[in-house]
Amino acid sequence: MRMIDIIERKREKQELTKEEIEFFISEYTKGNIKDYQAAALVMAIFLNGMTNQETTNLTLAMAHSGEILDLSTLEEIIVDKHSTGGVGDKVSLILLPLVSSLGVPVAKMSGRGLGFTGGTIDKLESIPGYQTTIEMEQFVKNVKQIGISMISQTLNLAPADKKLYALRDSISCVESIPLIASSIMSKKIASGAQKIVLDVTVGRGAFMKNKEDAEKLANTMIQIGKLAKRETICVLTNMNEPLGYAVGNSLEVMEAVNFLRGDMPEDLKQVVLELGCYMMQLAGIGKDLVENKNKLLENIKNGKAYDKLLELIKNQGGDIRYIENLDKFPKARYIEPLYNDKNGYIQEIDSKEIGKLASILGAGREKKEDTIDSSVGIVLTKKVADKVEEKEVLAYIHANHEKVLSEVKRKLKDRIQVSQHKIEKEKTILEVIQ
Ligand code: URA
Repeated sequence: MRMIDIIERKREKQELTKEEIEFFISEYTKGNIKDYQAAALVMAIFLNGMTNQETTNLTLAMAHSGEILDLSTLEEIIVDKHSTGGVGDKVSLILLPLVSSLGVPVAKMSGRGLGFTGGTIDKLESIPGYQTTIEMEQFVKNVKQIGISMISQTLNLAPADKKLYALRDSISCVESIPLIASSIMSKKIASGAQKIVLDVTVGRGAFMKNKEDAEKLANTMIQIGKLAKRETICVLTNMNEPLGYAVGNSLEVMEAVNFLRGDMPEDLKQVVLELGCYMMQLAGIGKDLVENKNKLLENIKNGKAYDKLLELIKNQGGDIRYIENLDKFPKARYIEPLYNDKNGYIQEIDSKEIGKLASILGAGREKKEDTIDSSVGIVLTKKVADKVEEKEVLAYIHANHEKVLSEVKRKLKDRIQVSQHKIEKEKTILEVIQ
């Protein structure tokens, strides 16, 4: 089999066979196919798409490119959660301790941020001492002992996805339905999830810019889940504006902690409750979705979810004094307010641009090797449709460098639009597909 023939067939819009896809994935993972040929094939897939059969074969080949975790020793149904990516998305930090406090076992491998989207692992690493890379046995032991562990995807899981994701990012081929579906589902299959709840984000700060594409992506992932015998539910959520108020690593950890103490921004609350009620249903601990939501809220009120977060952090070496007293987190050198200049209503907060600005401040990476500055980012004070007065603060910019601060301040002003007319609030939960 020759890679050049596979590229040519996809270029000519033909359907690749299972053998061709398996050849590409196994030889690319081993380093026998060079990036330039892989890039040509990925671009041909990006432009010409894939059939459901091809996408499924790609997913399974990627899932089997490394180890497949066996979580059967846990003797419980493992329900996993994954987001297709967003800005200000601190949902895992809140939702996973919360469902764990209700008895849903959580064995979660999270990713790092890339480009304008954030990653849960970078956020967890802003908590001093928290170990994101632990041995497999310890990971399983933690889930058995306290019902939750959250680590990074450093084990040899779906290595083909790691290589392909970096390649896609460098050749502008991220926003493709078969490529995103296979990337996410291969990781979920490899990490031993039996049931999966997916947060499929839609809008400016998401890879799917409109609902139709998000529905196609969701249906593709559900189909792959069916073939791989992993029941999958997709919740489509709005990512036009950042989720909650904080964008930046320790700033988002603080917002998550405050959420679990009862201070819940409405959009974040809706996403957490919607994903949570389905996780409980799939785990078999509650059929009634409304009742599940009430139980989730109850465990926030009675402090059990917050206690579970502390237990998780402590168990993984994190210093819980930072969580108990958020003032201990290192502050950025400058915390600069951005003032509004006319009375009106917030019309738009462009989440992709806010993500990019947070990245410029140091909260994200341009390249995989870049280091993160945990303390920097943007904390908004308003949501779309909120009323705003002249001279009111729209956001606080947390920066460590004066030059970057003035650049971000100038650009941020254009990214938060104020209208003189009343603005309708957009829906947060757009659809549930199962
Ligand atoms: N998240 C992933 O894990 N992969 C993608 O391709 C996009 C979002």
